[in-house]
Amino acid sequence: GKSGYDHYMLKEIYEQPKAIRQCLRERVHELEGSVTVDELAELECGGPVQFVACGTSYHAALYGARLLRERGIPAQCFLASEYDVESIPVTKETVVVGVTQSGETADTVSALRAANRTGATTLALTNVVGSSAARECDHVMYIRAGPEIGVAATKTFASQQVALAMLSRVLSEECSTEFVEGLRDLPDQVQRVLDGSTVRAVAEAYEDANAYFFIGRGYNAPVALEGALKMKEITYKHAEGFAAGELKHGPLALVTEKTPVFALLTGSNISKTLGNVKEVEARDAPVVAVTDSPDEVGQYADYVLEVPEAGPWFTPILANIQLQLVSYWVANRMGRSIDKPRNLAKSVTVE
Ligand code: M6R
Repeated sequence: GKSGYDHYMLKEIYEQPKAIRQCLRERVHELEGSVTVDELAELECGGPVQFVACGTSYHAALYGARLLRERGIPAQCFLASEYDVESIPVTKETVVVGVTQSGETADTVSALRAANRTGATTLALTNVVGSSAARECDHVMYIRAGPEIGVAATKTFASQQVALAMLSRVLSEECSTEFVEGLRDLPDQVQRVLDGSTVRAVAEAYEDANAYFFIGRGYNAPVALEGALKMKEITYKHAEGFAAGELKHGPLALVTEKTPVFALLTGSNISKTLGNVKEVEARDAPVVAVTDSPDEVGQYADYVLEVPEAGPWFTPILANIQLQLVSYWVANRMGRSIDKPRNLAKSVTVE
């Protein structure tokens, strides 16, 4: 059941500390300062990594690919429906990773099948034991989020991010104490975000907006995309997310006093994104800052949604939770069918 929550989505948002703990269990070793994943003991990765995924899972893949590239491993992301082994170089050294919560998404399963035919190594990163993707691939890593009922992916996105963070360390065979400690502390920090969130005031202030924009850089860019997808999916309102630097290359034309902009301002390098915030302010757009530096950015924002400081890799996971809550509360105020949005299914089994 919904354990007293009005919707599964809200329950699942609040289950994130537990979901992340389950994902980390027996994989993060604080004393040794290492990360291991038993299921991947036999996985060898000498070549490039290609991620295939759809929707929210694609956003997780964008985050994961960036982590791999930072470790010196060439990694690219493909929308599963656009993955075409005829036009994309795949060799026997390539590791193709399908990121799929359900493990049943037809586009992703067929991309993995095509990858298998080329002789590449395949890995499924999934929540569902024995799913089609799990059976199709040479290797499986489970994200262990527990069942997700809401059509909108929430806790499984956080678990995918955490699983991909661990995968980046397993594949690069090196892990800093800082990284291990960051993972260890994450469930408690997620709890702090959930306990301290002030999003209901933001939802109330902006529920009548014409459109919502989400901007972020680096590890926050996929979170901007995810924030917009969640908003569209459950409120049926226009929302767009993009890398902050892209704003001035077109979308800025849409920015008015009726389009709130959610700016992801975390980490050490927020000054460029603050520059983009000033551009939207000059067009009178309301600004909501999601930030670990409220003192620095507060003066530029109409509302501040705070997250604890958790370093470049993990603060974006915390920031996303604020955005999940914003979408939820806007949709709730609008009386939307949050757990089963119109036209959508939990797993999309047609290509
Ligand atoms: O089960 P999958 O992770 O393969 O599903 C992929 C997408 O259909 C899914 O993430 C979809 O975008 C969600 N409903 C978003 O909340």
